[in-house]
Amino acid sequence: MSKEQVYIFDTTLRDGEQVPGCKLDTKQKLEIAARLDELGVDIIEAGFPVSSPGDFHSVELISKLVKNASVCGLTRAVKKDIEVAAEALKHAKRPRIHTGIGTSDSHIKHKFNSTREEIIERAVAAVKYAKSFVEDIEFYAEDAGRTDNEFLARVCEEVIKAGATVLNIPDTTGYCLPHEYGAKIKYLKENVTGIDKAVLSCHCHNDLGLATANSIEGVINGARQIECTINGIGERAGNTSLEEVVMIMRQHPYLNLDTNINSKLLYSTSQMVSHNMGMIVQPNKAIVGANAFAHSSGIHQDGVIKNRETYEIIDPHDVGVTESSIVLTARSGRAALAYRAKIVGYELTKLQLDDVYKVFLEYADRKKEVLDEDIHDIIKDSKINI
Ligand code: KIV
Ligand code: ZN
Repeated sequence: MSKEQVYIFDTTLRDGEQVPGCKLDTKQKLEIAARLDELGVDIIEAGFPVSSPGDFHSVELISKLVKNASVCGLTRAVKKDIEVAAEALKHAKRPRIHTGIGTSDSHIKHKFNSTREEIIERAVAAVKYAKSFVEDIEFYAEDAGRTDNEFLARVCEEVIKAGATVLNIPDTTGYCLPHEYGAKIKYLKENVTGIDKAVLSCHCHNDLGLATANSIEGVINGARQIECTINGIGERAGNTSLEEVVMIMRQHPYLNLDTNINSKLLYSTSQMVSHNMGMIVQPNKAIVGANAFAHSSGIHQDGVIKNRETYEIIDPHDVGVTESSIVLTARSGRAALAYRAKIVGYELTKLQLDDVYKVFLEYADRKKEVLDEDIHDIIKDSKINI
């Protein structure tokens, strides 16, 4: 049975770029956009054109550059924003306007000093106006995570009638638990008239470390687009991490869901974004962290040397990492030492290995990590005949 496609909406250049102190210049944005297109994302959210002349310019240039993906520009439910976005996107092969408004009672009261009825009117007007410029309109119901489901369903129904093609259900504050977010998507699937005319999209923030889990619950319950960023970057605790959701769907075939992503480009794309933003990837980051395929404890190393699958659920080649690494530390065993010694040119017998291992442990207690160049000294100090 062929798998159902989940569209990947990358917002590294918009929500991701909201990381304090990590602004990208236009050249860097273009380089990242070209790579995202090559990676196979379906939609690139290139920026928020009305926010600054610089953002307008980069959305315009990205629109000209991108060959395959749809290019999207963010707006508020404000006429001027929509006009400016349409102008910035006019050279895009597949332009999308992403417009919306806060729908939770908190946003309605504190941000807009408005009422639910007025919010629906503004949402519908924004979608209709955006539709006068482009066909593909995504509507976001900001703070949908904390919006009452019945009201959210009404908003969705009205914006579909007005022409929205995608409904973004953001958990803007990262508040939802996975089962709650999944239930919200299911509720919309089951209760919004006309829902078959639109794609439901998950846009989850990571304030409680649940962005990936929530997005996956979303697609399990019927959403068919995930909004995410490379390395999960974004404001506060960040957005859903692209590499995580893509590999979860690949590693769990029974979900029967897949994306267009060329996973072999994940590691190099992660490095490129990290380098351009000056933002290191935490070493224990799933999929793309420096330690994601590194083994340092003796028991694990012994297993991985015998068969990689004993302690790895992903083949590192599948995400563009050249190989698993066996890191030598004081927790390493003889198998790991013999393995690395062989790589640097020493085939040790069992007796030789016993002697070398004693010296190795002394080194390892002094150093955090024993490197390949240290192995030569260790062999020399162990005074074995080689
Ligand atoms: O988190 C959010 O609600 C957003 C919207 C503007 C789409 O980023
Ligand atoms: Zn967001």
